[in-house]
Amino acid sequence: MTKSIVSSNLTKIYKEGHTEVKAVCSVDLQLNEGEMVGLFGPSGSGKTTLLSIIGCMLHPTSGSLRIYSNETTTLGEAARTEIRKKYISFIFQGFNLFPALTAYENIMLVLRLKRLKGVNADQRVKDLLTNVGLSERMNFFPKDLSGGEKQRVSIARALAADSPIILADEPTASLDQGNGKNVMEILKRFTIEQKKCVVAATHDSRLEDIFDRIITIEDGKITKDSRKIL
Ligand SMILES: Nc1ncnc2c1ncn2[C@@H]1O[C@H](COP(=O)(O)OP(=O)(O)O)[C@@H](O)[C@H]1O
Ligand SMILES: [Mg+2]
Repeated sequence: MTKSIVSSNLTKIYKEGHTEVKAVCSVDLQLNEGEMVGLFGPSGSGKTTLLSIIGCMLHPTSGSLRIYSNETTTLGEAARTEIRKKYISFIFQGFNLFPALTAYENIMLVLRLKRLKGVNADQRVKDLLTNVGLSERMNFFPKDLSGGEKQRVSIARALAADSPIILADEPTASLDQGNGKNVMEILKRFTIEQKKCVVAATHDSRLEDIFDRIITIEDGKITKDSRKIL
């Protein structure tokens, strides 16, 4: 099994004046391709901080983080951005879609950045949106889509980038239970079909069943790491 993410002793201390918050504390992780990982923990336990570090958005105070064998903590900002672009996509609670662009255009933007053009790009956008069940909604603007539909556009956008790692921060927090489950099931399908490594932070215990592996974080420390026995 290929290791997508390997961290050791990962620590993040936020300093504000004289106070320090140890948000992530000596975290050791080994996450694999084809694995759907749920990062569970109460509010303030360090989930967003840990995902931001793994996503090379936030620099840890100490420790090591390897993304597909690339040690990221010794890299400069530009090189870390390159790693992020090549390997990582994000899905957010608030969807982060461009409101002035249709579902189709939101996805096309990613392909343009990857310099894919013409008929191939057009077909790929249509395939991606069809794959998340939105073939009838391609030309809708975000304001005319439901929460579940918007999150499915975000999934299609994450897949458009073709990155092997997808990090999702509370992806179902704005959705009702049915739509939340549906969104997670779509992510699960791509984890299996495309051998993605998906890490989703959530505190919704109703979603536990969908994950292959559950990691629990409390006060910045990993307190449990359990794989589903198949
Ligand atoms: N930018 C920041 N500056 C200072 N403290 C922060 C910052 N972001 C998060 N924290 C603190 O770090 C801890 C972990 O926060 P966070 O990673 O957002 O947890 P979660 O996503 O599990 O709710 C909390 O105590 C929070 O108040
Ligand atoms: Mg959070």
